[in-house]
Amino acid sequence: MINPINIGSIDDIDEGEAKVIPSDETGTGEDIAVFHAEDGNFYALNDNCTHETASLADGWIEGTEVECPIHAAKFCLKKGTALCMPATQDARTHKVEVSGNDLLLYPNVPAEPVEA
Ligand code: FES
Repeated sequence: MINPINIGSIDDIDEGEAKVIPSDETGTGEDIAVFHAEDGNFYALNDNCTHETASLADGWIEGTEVECPIHAAKFCLKKGTALCMPATQDARTHKVEVSGNDLLLYPNVPAEPVEA
């Protein structure tokens, strides 16, 4: 069984904002960005854009998409899908769970399939 990381309260991340969990906490060797999307849900992607080097947590959240702050590639927060150029590679998703007031992150466990 994979143990989740408690990354804090749901109140720590306002809707439309994101929080970076550093690689030394995720244990995956990569930073993970946890987003509070405009549908009210939380989603997690590897923080680094798959195009070049940029923090997706510094990007703009619109609905359930995030736009990279450097060259404006967009990614689906639900599935990690690269939605437009210049990114051609999908971002890796990680499962996030809400437990009471806490946010639990499961690094390297893909997000559950959801309707896009
Ligand atoms: S670094 Fe993200 S689109 Fe180029």
